[in-house]
Amino acid sequence: MIPDRDRGARGGPDIAAHYHRLAPDFTRHWSYSDAFVGWMTSRLLAHAAVGGDSRVLDVGCGTGLYSQRLADHTHQLLVCVDPSTAMLDRISDSPRLVPVNATAESVARGEAPLPYRKFDAVVVKEAQHHVSRDVRESTVRGLARLLAPDGRLIVVMMPTHCCGHQHFTDAELDAGITEIRRTNPGGTVTFPDRYTVLVAH
Ligand SMILES: C[S@@+](CC[C@H](N)C(=O)[O-])C[C@H]1O[C@@H](n2cnc3c(N)ncnc32)[C@H](O)[C@@H]1O
Repeated sequence: MIPDRDRGARGGPDIAAHYHRLAPDFTRHWSYSDAFVGWMTSRLLAHAAVGGDSRVLDVGCGTGLYSQRLADHTHQLLVCVDPSTAMLDRISDSPRLVPVNATAESVARGEAPLPYRKFDAVVVKEAQHHVSRDVRESTVRGLARLLAPDGRLIVVMMPTHCCGHQHFTDAELDAGITEIRRTNPGGTVTFPDRYTVLVAH
């Protein structure tokens, strides 16, 4: 069952159901490896210039995989926004992580209660694609309005031209998994990946 609070205006029932289903295993699957998480964290810290007293807003934070690591580099609260309560419920129980159940759109419209009025960094990592196209520009503008002087808005996403959404049948997925197992007998799968990072000052 998807809680009612996860439905409707918060990205629609499909997305809510998708993340409700993924939440228990999300961090395990999404982490890939310690090396990857360490590398991605170092990129976020550098692009967002997080340090010391940075107030950071992580929009579409999911289970807080990166929020937690960013929080290790600032003394301020790390504000974690996500419309999925199933994802937010998995954020680690630290008094420095402040979960806020909201969408990027509602934050951009100033409707979500946030502990700070301005932020030194607003991070949107692999969540931007969930904001519908007709409000994407206004949402980015709204998030940018939350920036303090010298603040940075960081959008991390897969390159838009690379793949698009692909749909596979169960049989095709099984065949793919068999092929991956056959070509990676050691059990570890290594593959190159590519990210686009947009930094707005
Ligand atoms: C692929 S996950 C990325 C999670 C996290 N940023 C990370 O990289 O570990 C996408 C997240 O975006 C959230 N999401 C879905 N619709 C959203 C919206 N309209 N505004 C903000 N976040 C949204 C989902 O609930 C999910 O937690």
